[in-house]
Amino acid sequence: MLKGDTTLVLGAAGQIGTDLVTTLREQHGGSRVIATDVKEQSGYLSESGPFYTLDVLDAQAVADVIRSNKVKEVYLLAALLSATAEQKMKTAWKLNMEGLFILLDIARDLGGIKIFWPSSIAVFGPSTPRDHTPQYTVMEPSTVYGISKLAGERWCEYYFNKFGVDVRSIRYPGLISYKALPGGGTTDYAVDIYHQALDKGRYSCFLKEDTALPMMYMPDAIRATLELMNAPADQVKIRSSYNLGGISFTPRDIASEIARHVPGFAIDYQPDFRQEIADSWPNSIDDSRAQQDWGWRCQYDLSSMTVDMLKHLKEARHTV
Ligand code: SER
Repeated sequence: MLKGDTTLVLGAAGQIGTDLVTTLREQHGGSRVIATDVKEQSGYLSESGPFYTLDVLDAQAVADVIRSNKVKEVYLLAALLSATAEQKMKTAWKLNMEGLFILLDIARDLGGIKIFWPSSIAVFGPSTPRDHTPQYTVMEPSTVYGISKLAGERWCEYYFNKFGVDVRSIRYPGLISYKALPGGGTTDYAVDIYHQALDKGRYSCFLKEDTALPMMYMPDAIRATLELMNAPADQVKIRSSYNLGGISFTPRDIASEIARHVPGFAIDYQPDFRQEIADSWPNSIDDSRAQQDWGWRCQYDLSSMTVDMLKHLKEARHTV
């Protein structure tokens, strides 16, 4: 980012946004990173730099913020996740697709704006090979969220090819963070389990014990995002979205890792509608293209993530 330029994070109060805004403001200074969310915020987001209440579906308002602040980089994080999207089908489609179109059109019309748009492992479906799922493979998502992400990927690539919009994207696995809770995803259990382990010593999991899913600790995900955004444009060879692997584990694996630090921790399994979503997704991801193109390396494994999560969550409980 050049001196005087500004970065905009749309949907900043969500799980990724909370961590991303913190890192961006540490790197560039609070005043150069504008955070917006549809919900008004108090605390860090609005105190450490500019914050506006903004609906990403309000094209005029989004364009005004971008123009009047000389924004050069935009992170579009406003979306409904997989479980919520199944229950609010049309709302999810509208938010996930129209929000992207609005931003792609603004970037095309104004020029010189770099966009980050998150995709997901949800772009894969039941007919996709499950293990070490390759970058290019069968993609027949069976969820509203997955359909919206796959369509979004195609539009990102289209706008890059036809209009030269510098759009970059990652297919995030389930993300685990101590700063903010996820909302309405199928991988949310892997965050909630840490909180419940410390608060209650037990957890009731909405997925079966042997459901393996690709996951990643948030510091790795934020680093990946910034590495991709900072890579020279010619190294970003994939303009739909990059596979990103991280860690693969089951509820049973994470429970036994937690039990090493929380003596007596107990888990039981009460699968609900989210099991079907999880069953349609890969077990693990091959991210060799991200490694080759922009040097991606994952750092945290299940064990080091668990140590760090529990440390920070315990600290937060002592300072409250
Ligand atoms: N973590 C997301 C979800 O569960 C997947 O992208 O919906």
